Amino acid sequence: YSLKALNTFGLAVKARYFCSLHKLSGVRTLMAWQQEHPDLPLLFLGGGSNILFVNDYPGLVVQVRLETLEVLGQDENYHYVRAGAGNNWHEFVQWTIAQGFAGLENLSLIPGTVGAAPMQNIGAYGVELKDHVYEVQALDWRTAEIRDFNVEECRFTYRDSYFKSVEPDRWLIVAVVLRLPRQPQWKIDYSGVKELLAGKMLNARLISDAIISIRQSKLPDPAEIGNAGSFFKNPLITPAQWAALKTQFPDIPGWPQQGQVKTSAGWLIDQCGWKGKRDGDTGTYAKHALVLVNHGNATGIEVWNFAQTIIASVQDSFGITLEPEPRVIR
Ligand code: EPU
Repeated sequence: YSLKALNTFGLAVKARYFCSLHKLSGVRTLMAWQQEHPDLPLLFLGGGSNILFVNDYPGLVVQVRLETLEVLGQDENYHYVRAGAGNNWHEFVQWTIAQGFAGLENLSLIPGTVGAAPMQNIGAYGVELKDHVYEVQALDWRTAEIRDFNVEECRFTYRDSYFKSVEPDRWLIVAVVLRLPRQPQWKIDYSGVKELLAGKMLNARLISDAIISIRQSKLPDPAEIGNAGSFFKNPLITPAQWAALKTQFPDIPGWPQQGQVKTSAGWLIDQCGWKGKRDGDTGTYAKHALVLVNHGNATGIEVWNFAQTIIASVQDSFGITLEPEPRVIR
């Protein structure tokens, strides 16, 4: 089964088996299938926007299409909404804004689905998903029971969560409940955002439009050039390492984060001269060094090899080991 249209890198990889999950009742069927094929791996796929298939997939790929959407109600401080995992994230954000709810505007235009969002605690322009999660509803693949995880239990950190790192294959995220503030606190301090919105009367629609235009100006549209957003996480280094680098490279960016310093992977890669570089049909995007792209007919192996070259180059120049941000399936 071709996964070409189901991964935003646009890689022509295949899955041995494929199905879509539209209703929770389908889980029983899936579990029975798995018992009959105990040797085959199983992979849940959302929008395919944060994944690199290095090779064909030897097992079953399940596209999660649980697409419910509802306003649950409100209390003194928040509106509560529940979205099924299969909803497109950006369309969901736009829907909340149309309902008159604020909070998610900075997360506009992030590719992928609602169910994938908590996996890696998506974030952009000063806001992370965790800031607005009330609970995540996940199905325990061992028992088929659904459990509600409150925000602490999700153990969200930078691009990481309990679901991604602690028990990666146990839980199927089926829905996310968000709580959106009735008194919104706009976050527009990120450079680029501030300038666009200076002096304006703010509302969620206006901020969302600004974020959309910023993203469109520097990130490639997967419909035009295959990519999976940032290919590396912004590395966390020790304050001592950062200070040492700063004397050598006075322009190196750095933001304090949980006792460490987060620096910019895009900057490091750019400094090594990789921005806009191309090797066959793979390379980095001309306007953003952190985004690996497929210009047409790249293979998963080529993209992965190119990533290794960049990792080695940054390691060599700065002594920092970059880690991939998307899920890499080898
Ligand atoms: N930079 C360069 N050269 C480049 C690109 C960036 O020098 O080619 C430097 C510049 O100094 C720039 C800084 O990097 O000011 C930051 O760039 P940008 O604002 O684009 O943010 P980022 O750190 O590269 C992160 C997220 C993005 C998110 C943006 C905006 C990660 C791995 N990436 O990128 O998320 O949209 O901030 O908040 O944290 C994603 O996760 O897929 C993603 C796109």
